[in-house]
Amino acid sequence: MLIESVTNPEPTFSVENIHISDADLPAFTDMPFEDIEELQLDHPGASDEEYRERRDHIASLSKKFRETGVITDVDYTEEEQGIWRHVAGRLEELHQKHSSPFYLKAKKDLGISNDRIPQLSEMNRRLKETTNFRLAPIEGLVDTRAFLSWLSWRTMLSTQYIRHHSRPEYTPEPDIIHEAIGHIPMFTNTNFADYSQFIGHGARVANDKQLEELGRLYWFTVEFGMVEHEGEIKAYGAGLLSSFGELEHAFSDSVERRPFDLEQVINHEFTYSDMQPVLYVIRSYKELKEETRRYIESLASAA
Ligand SMILES: [Fe+2]
Repeated sequence: MLIESVTNPEPTFSVENIHISDADLPAFTDMPFEDIEELQLDHPGASDEEYRERRDHIASLSKKFRETGVITDVDYTEEEQGIWRHVAGRLEELHQKHSSPFYLKAKKDLGISNDRIPQLSEMNRRLKETTNFRLAPIEGLVDTRAFLSWLSWRTMLSTQYIRHHSRPEYTPEPDIIHEAIGHIPMFTNTNFADYSQFIGHGARVANDKQLEELGRLYWFTVEFGMVEHEGEIKAYGAGLLSSFGELEHAFSDSVERRPFDLEQVINHEFTYSDMQPVLYVIRSYKELKEETRRYIESLASAA
């Protein structure tokens, strides 16, 4: 477990002492969710009864995980598979140009193809074998501290339902496209997986102001991060990799791509709804991880 003896002079955590097993996962049956009323008004499926019922059904399968510890596969409909094929195919063309070879290979290694929606259970199995990261289904948008805290157990909470067919390029909430194309492949990278876990540790000890800082760090890396690769800039953030609009915008002249600076990033306020005018480019995942380790250790020792 993660709890340290008070007499231990070592930092609160290190890569060496954060092995996680399934038995370590907290037995949360309740989860603090964000109030999504507003989100639902903006949702393209808000007034489509059939869609809402289907979304609620898939959400109920996700919810079972916290009672049983077992991921339930979703029997996706032909229409849902069609949305996936359309979006995944178009994104793949952009990925060839704007994502790193590592990301493209990771997608393949996890069995994520453009042909069908991958099941969390399959991706979870492969992730565990590669970096001991895991996936836990979730039925909605979770409160920031709870969501980030799960990363400290090397676990990403992931939705299973898919966006509304009327606007395949857009979703106001995370869906299986955002998770499986945007987030999940990156966890096969050990440095990125450790980095994510550090953010999780941070969320468990942070005060409210520090939690906001962590939220910004997460936003400008995990969601909208860019990385240098052999002299070129590539996208690795899930918000970029899972959106045609964001990905094209990120490489356009209207974005300032700055070298990553942790101090600057944690103080950089952003708005969720607008395209980002500034993005940050890391030199490597290893460097990001080591810099973040020091930052999180400073939070942990001050807590
Ligand atoms: Fe996300």
